[in-house]
Amino acid sequence: MSTIILLLLSLSSVDLSYQDQSTARLSNLGYTFTPYSSASTPLLTLAQSSILRCHMQCNPRIACRLFDYDSDTNQCRLWSDDLTTGMISLAIPSKPQSRVGVIRIAPYIYTPIHNQPCDKCTESRYEECDPFSLTCQCPSVTFWNGNVCSPQRYLNQSCATIDSCRSDLALECRDVGCNSVFQCLNQTNVVTVAGFCNATVGGGAYGLSGPWGLYVTSNNTLYVTDYDTGRVQAYAPSSRSGVTIAELSGHVEDIFMDSMGCIYVVDITLSSVFISPMNTTLPIAIQRPCTSSSIYDPYGIAVDRYGNIYISDFYCNVVTKWAPNTTAGIVVAGQLNTAGSTSSLLNGPKFIALDEVHSALYVVDYYNCRVQKFLLGVSTVGTTVAGGNGYGTGLNQLKNPSGVCVLLKDQSVYVGDQDNHRVVKWVVNATQGSIVAGVTGVAGNTSSLLNTPGDCAFDPTETFLYVADYGNHRVQRFSL
Ligand SMILES: *[C@@H]1O[C@H](CO)[C@@H](O)[C@H](O)[C@H]1NC(C)=O
Ligand SMILES: *[C@@H]1O[C@H](CO)[C@@H](O)[C@H](O)[C@H]1NC(C)=O
Ligand SMILES: *[C@@H]1O[C@H](CO)[C@@H](O)[C@H](O)[C@H]1NC(C)=O
Ligand SMILES: *[C@@H]1O[C@H](CO)[C@@H](O)[C@H](O)[C@H]1NC(C)=O
Ligand SMILES: *[C@@H]1O[C@H](CO)[C@@H](O)[C@H](O)[C@H]1NC(C)=O
Ligand SMILES: *[C@@H]1O[C@H](CO)[C@@H](O)[C@H](O)[C@H]1NC(C)=O
Ligand SMILES: *[C@@H]1O[C@H](CO)[C@@H](O)[C@H](O)[C@H]1NC(C)=O
Ligand SMILES: *[C@@H]1O[C@H](CO)[C@@H](O)[C@H](O)[C@H]1NC(C)=O
Repeated sequence: MSTIILLLLSLSSVDLSYQDQSTARLSNLGYTFTPYSSASTPLLTLAQSSILRCHMQCNPRIACRLFDYDSDTNQCRLWSDDLTTGMISLAIPSKPQSRVGVIRIAPYIYTPIHNQPCDKCTESRYEECDPFSLTCQCPSVTFWNGNVCSPQRYLNQSCATIDSCRSDLALECRDVGCNSVFQCLNQTNVVTVAGFCNATVGGGAYGLSGPWGLYVTSNNTLYVTDYDTGRVQAYAPSSRSGVTIAELSGHVEDIFMDSMGCIYVVDITLSSVFISPMNTTLPIAIQRPCTSSSIYDPYGIAVDRYGNIYISDFYCNVVTKWAPNTTAGIVVAGQLNTAGSTSSLLNGPKFIALDEVHSALYVVDYYNCRVQKFLLGVSTVGTTVAGGNGYGTGLNQLKNPSGVCVLLKDQSVYVGDQDNHRVVKWVVNATQGSIVAGVTGVAGNTSSLLNTPGDCAFDPTETFLYVADYGNHRVQRFSL
């Protein structure tokens, strides 16, 4: 392609600030741009009186990487593709006055901004401020290739890193048949959204050690607690690159974000609930017996729209409710210091799920192998909505369940059935569940298998189910 490129078009004479400038290399006359994929369309097509003006239209648009201009028709097309996702070729039928301009993208442009604090890129046409890390990062549909932000690749193009495919077009970079040939392929109905899909343990931005608690926000940001390492990771929508938002000592379980954007993380080792950004915690019990005004073995957490915190206590066998700014909780499910299997008792409560619309709290009752539903403010007597038929592999049973999530549209209950390596769904009034993920008793690492699933969560549209696939060090997302 370099033989085609002849000229350099520079906007520097047009009096722009340094960061706004771009230069473009121009092809010979008669050439036009063809994207690799028919899924790619121009960002914008408009009439301009010259190629310089076409470049000036491209320049302020961070997504614009290339333009082609035909001075016979004055047509200026702006593209987010470049020569990695398309090609320059002779126009057929011929367009003698058409040429292509490629915005110069080079490492020296990125060196002063990439990963730097956001003030370095406020004026930049090359990178944007990432709201989590508050550093300059590649804009959408591009990825960091180690030197520059490069357009994400299309179907069947080769790829190298997890973020290098067009996830907005439902593509992912997969090792085809595990033979180390990586290509952008259609996502399957099971997608790894955090951690490595090949079930390798890892750290850093892409790896996870033992994902356990999940929360998906209204804008599809995924939060994951890494039980094994104490890390709390945040993943922007369709990004596989996690940002560590907290690193606690000990084991972290449930995570929740309230309507104010405050994050609650439960740390069972420290007996604490960390509430960010206020940096507060609920009162900690340093000794037993348990009381309602302290927490001993916190596990599941949920917060309603009024700021009431619900927290299950695995050792104390209760769920307590904490009104905003109070120093004492009240028991809303179970009985302090009393493990049991009657409808008003719990034995080892783990994750919980809150359905505010129906004022219902769902509690995984671990040692009783069941999920109990409590109508808040009405009764502390629970109803079994999943399991309750002993420890086992039957469809009417559960085997050490941990996770729970409730589909708001029909109130069906999904259970992370830990030692059965499956997620089961129980519709309202069901006497048995159906398997929605994994295979009973098979701890495997192919995309359709699970190994010791923990928490589950839904996206806001209830289109996808997220499962913390603990033993495979990854989070899987299933299409419902
Ligand atoms: C991608 O590759 C598959 C399998 O080789 C082929 O069937 C399909 O037509 C290709 N699609 C594109 C857009 O190249
Ligand atoms: C991938 O998805 C595209 C668009 O949904 C479809 O046209 C194509 O046939 C799929 N290709 C493969 C190989 O599944
Ligand atoms: C799994 O994938 C990661 C990321 O692609 C890679 O670094 C690692 O070597 C792979 N592990 C195995 C066992 O294939
Ligand atoms: C995935 O499972 C296969 C088959 O059991 C096993 O050989 C392989 O080591 C596992 N991969 C990882 C990363 O544990
Ligand atoms: C998602 O919403 C939260 C507030 O709920 C906000 O802090 C965050 O910046 C948003 N993330 C993105 C990627 O828009
Ligand atoms: C919370 O702690 C962080 C890290 O120690 C600190 O940067 C932040 O200012 C604290 N926030 C408040 C409200 O004290
Ligand atoms: C709780 O305390 C905070 C900080 O003192 C205050 O901003 C907030 O309004 C209080 N909330 C309620 C419901 O009283
Ligand atoms: C579930 O059972 C209750 C009590 O028998 C009944 O009122 C309700 O309509 C049933 N709901 C569904 C969805 O079957």
